[in-house]
Amino acid sequence: MKTPIGLFDSGDGGLTIFDKVHALMPEYDYLYLGDNARAPYGSRSFEIVYEFTLQAVKRLFDMGCPLVIIACNTASAKALRTIQQNDLPNIDVSRRVLGVIRPTVEVIGKITKTNHVGVVATQGTILSHSYSLEIKKLWPDIIVTGQACPLWVPLIENNEYNTAGADYFVKKYLDQLLNKDPLIDTLILGCTHYPLLIDKIRAYLPETINVIPQGNYVADSLKDYLHRHPEMEVRCSKHGEVEFLTSESEDKFSEAANIFLGKQEGIHAQRIIWE
Ligand code: DGL
Repeated sequence: MKTPIGLFDSGDGGLTIFDKVHALMPEYDYLYLGDNARAPYGSRSFEIVYEFTLQAVKRLFDMGCPLVIIACNTASAKALRTIQQNDLPNIDVSRRVLGVIRPTVEVIGKITKTNHVGVVATQGTILSHSYSLEIKKLWPDIIVTGQACPLWVPLIENNEYNTAGADYFVKKYLDQLLNKDPLIDTLILGCTHYPLLIDKIRAYLPETINVIPQGNYVADSLKDYLHRHPEMEVRCSKHGEVEFLTSESEDKFSEAANIFLGKQEGIHAQRIIWE
């Protein structure tokens, strides 16, 4: 019987997280769900992101996942805490839902030297203040400055991230961020799409600034979690199989998935319908 590790994202961006998790732990089964039909979540309200995320988590539970990773910053920022604290006790106390913000925040204090950290993310993630709140808990001396970059996701989704238009908007938001705090030496890419822009982001920043994509940290943190929780580890099946689900058309998902995973061969997804 398959009891895969579930990964959820508003669409394809979470594949940048899945990619690293799968590379580190290929022995597990994975079930990836992208809510492409309702993406992007970035500028949606708290209530809607929470409602959609809870629906997705329940679907992944129904499909046998004992553990779900919310591989989306916006959903982690707006829905994770409420699901963990209010919903999980009523659904199934033995299942777990984890996010992507905490694993990223945990490493930040060891990387910054100036104690000035920048976060680029969707409007929803920045307005939630989740990064600054989480960083303050672990690293009270760090000053966090956020910058919403609302045009980066559409540039990537429309496959325009390698164009001069992308250069313009990458520079624009980074300039705005560094104007707010020129002492930043560490930049968190707080959105699952942004690793696709990493070369341009690096090009418009001084070399002294560390640019931090999340995938590897989330993967390391999940490995550590499974090591510390053998009761959960034994519940995650290990046939090395991966399945993809999308709420949009299978073809649209596959097309975008190939870009996000940088692969030539087709990724096949199955369409789900929300009740
Ligand atoms: N996956 C989302 C995130 O990491 C970005 C895409 C969206 O806005 O839905 O914040």
